[in-house]
Amino acid sequence: MNSNPEQPIGIFDSGIGGLTVANAIHHFMPEERLIYFGDTAHLPYGDKSADAIRYYCLRISKFLLEQNCKMIVIACNSASSAAYDMLLDFFEGKALFVNVVDPLVNAVIKKDYRNVGVIATKATISSSIYRNKIKTLNQKVKVNQLATPLLAPMIEEGFYSGNISKSVIENYLSHPDLDNIDSLLLACTHYPLIKNEINEYYKGKVDILDSTDVVKDEVYRILSEENLLAKKRQGEDSFYVSDFTTSFEQTAKNFYGEELKLEAMHIW
Ligand code: DGL
Repeated sequence: MNSNPEQPIGIFDSGIGGLTVANAIHHFMPEERLIYFGDTAHLPYGDKSADAIRYYCLRISKFLLEQNCKMIVIACNSASSAAYDMLLDFFEGKALFVNVVDPLVNAVIKKDYRNVGVIATKATISSSIYRNKIKTLNQKVKVNQLATPLLAPMIEEGFYSGNISKSVIENYLSHPDLDNIDSLLLACTHYPLIKNEINEYYKGKVDILDSTDVVKDEVYRILSEENLLAKKRQGEDSFYVSDFTTSFEQTAKNFYGEELKLEAMHIW
């Protein structure tokens, strides 16, 4: 790999949920230039087959490599579950890849939780990636998985603090499969937006973990190990979407926490 520190970091998601991860990276490493790609034309990934998700991820990664990215962060759990291994094989030696699953799994193991809940899209839950990876590292941890497919579209539509979201969240979290958990993994990059409401539901009795902090730490760790941390910012960040609507742009602001300009990029 012949990368240099001033190349950008590519980040992608099915839509705008991955902006929660992009924002964490941006604040922690402000010298890094980011190129974000949201595949809004194919959203949601959570209801797609693993083959369809792999196909989308291949094309997006190719695009990000054409933009000269030194690293690609798969800021989507559904895509990380279905496509990470394949992307590593396919683009071996061309860029560093980071998924959002391993950093959360490592956080669970470090904290020694015993009864872990996982909420995510149907694609992530049916892959059982969290259960398999956690069990491989520690057989004793009980992993309780629940698909929560209404949450990502609900958040994309702007419902994440109010009666509608409260009632959907309570409905899912009161499922018997999540009884007696000591920690809950928000295994979808959309869910940091409802973290406060989830915390309110559990009243501090359950630790809630999301990908934002652990993934930005992992990105920092890898770039620093590879001597690829940027010293000086080279140009502005870019935020591309495969299908542009003004409503995506408005919601994107809430995910990123500040104004940003989305640009349509037709790569299909
Ligand atoms: N952000 C995606 C994830 O982390 C979920 C949204 C979708 O279904 O496309 O899985």
